[in-house]
Amino acid sequence: MKNIPWWINEVVYQIYPKSFKDSNGDGIGDLQGIIEKLDYLQELGITMIWLSPCFRSPMVDNGYDISDYRAIAPEFGSMEDMDELIREAGERGIKIMLDLVINHSSDEHRWFIKAKTEPAYREYYHFLEGDKEPNNWRSIFGGSVWEKVPGKDEYYYHTFHRKQPDLNWDSPSLRREIIDMVRWWLDKGIAGFRVDAITFLKKEDFSRNGIPDGVDGRVDVGSFGRDVEGIGDYLSQLRKEGFSYRPCLTVAEAYGVKEENRKNYIGDEGYFDLMFDFEPTELDFEDTWLHPRNWTIREWGQQLMKVQMETQPYGFCANFLENHDQPRAASKYLRGNAHNPEAVKTLGAMYFFMRGLPFLYQGQELGLVNFRREKIEEFDDLSSYDLWERGLEEGMDPDRILAMLNLRSRDHGRTPFPWNNDRYGGFSQVRPWLAMTREYPEANAEAQKKDPESILSFYREMIAFRQKGKWKDCFLLGSIAPLESPNEVIAYSREYGNIRLYCWFNLSDKPVEETIPGDFSGEGKKEEDEGNPEIWHTGPWPRISGEKVFLAPWQSLILRR
Ligand code: NOJ
Ligand code: CA
Repeated sequence: MKNIPWWINEVVYQIYPKSFKDSNGDGIGDLQGIIEKLDYLQELGITMIWLSPCFRSPMVDNGYDISDYRAIAPEFGSMEDMDELIREAGERGIKIMLDLVINHSSDEHRWFIKAKTEPAYREYYHFLEGDKEPNNWRSIFGGSVWEKVPGKDEYYYHTFHRKQPDLNWDSPSLRREIIDMVRWWLDKGIAGFRVDAITFLKKEDFSRNGIPDGVDGRVDVGSFGRDVEGIGDYLSQLRKEGFSYRPCLTVAEAYGVKEENRKNYIGDEGYFDLMFDFEPTELDFEDTWLHPRNWTIREWGQQLMKVQMETQPYGFCANFLENHDQPRAASKYLRGNAHNPEAVKTLGAMYFFMRGLPFLYQGQELGLVNFRREKIEEFDDLSSYDLWERGLEEGMDPDRILAMLNLRSRDHGRTPFPWNNDRYGGFSQVRPWLAMTREYPEANAEAQKKDPESILSFYREMIAFRQKGKWKDCFLLGSIAPLESPNEVIAYSREYGNIRLYCWFNLSDKPVEETIPGDFSGEGKKEEDEGNPEIWHTGPWPRISGEKVFLAPWQSLILRR
């Protein structure tokens, strides 16, 4: 990149407002709850909050179905609360990034309501006349992408739920509305946007049917509707007239960008500053969560490094392990070792020192794990409901479906944040909207804050070391290259000026031997010497001998050459 971007120093923490902190005893997290916990976030060392949607919404998809882009959902608070949050966060050096859900609105948005009668608004959505569904595409939350308009021979299009009709970006007036709204929020002091489901913005030719990929005779909309030619015109306009209005950090939820198009999305000339790449995130299942896939740490490491290497020539990655759509990273990536704090720390360090901006999801810093639910009624997630139905349709055993949901449901990341070991984890005075994970009495912020060996303390130290330590420039700006390892170790080097760092993360329960490419000699100190300043590690002091390093199970090691 030509210039060093202003946002390179940021560490982003994602908050799912419904589940972070309830301030008024209704069992639902809210903006005042977030304000209460700003000191906690400041102490952790993060510099930006990505707030999942907190706009007015019927909450069919917990706020990803917006009915007013310029109003706060009453269950989360008021616009005054939002202004206070922006101000109070700012006083602590924390910026606010909003979630921009502009592929679709709620069907309760006034535009959609008016669209039924006023032609000017009708063009804001995709309506097609006819007496049957125009094609066989399956929506992300199940069933057809087409919903019949009651009493008419007419359908409207929805990539997600039927209560999330897709906006029609071919309409210049719609684009104007969205751009004006972006500018309005920037004027209020917002410092960035995470942009939802953005690769769906431009629609594929609706007359194309696909070869069915399920017993329902439909085909996943994802195999048609993403990164369609022409999308760049709309995204360029959004950047030019919206995002460029004031300095802001934009990060795209960019499922399914074609390899040759990646460089259009980010970098100096890109539509966005950063993008999330989901290929490595989805290596644990085939077409749906119902069909799990065997995978190895080596394979995962190779995929992560592939994204890094592809991105490096023109931009930076948004690095993450968790978000509100993902299971808990400890459970997913460490499987049987999810409860081993040393394993959880190394998992965190592995992605944190890669090139790019680290994103952290609420509760990840405590090493939270997945829950186990016994019945489908205990879930509260559109995707889980849909896959339950589809599994039954496929003739799967209900226990097997439940087992899959217990691995993958989006609810795992959405359980209320455990602040202490009071009833309901100090999240609320009353039973929360979604059941907590069972183990909050042990895994909570208050307990971990007091323990210098806890995962929380580790994250705090790691963030400080990355952002302010002696190798800061190398972590923030240095190049990256993969290191070969024969083990279940993810390894890479980082280089900046005369600093070269070798980084190994042993994601196995076995001691391993790794080779240092070239000689290692710490400044004036012998490599075996404890306290050598050229080493950062977790676990016991690592043994280094000649060109070999020996890592204990689950150990991280960074060594300067
Ligand atoms: C992606 C969001 O992360 C997810 O939570 C949501 O359901 C869909 N987009 C639809 O907005
Ligand atoms: Ca509340």
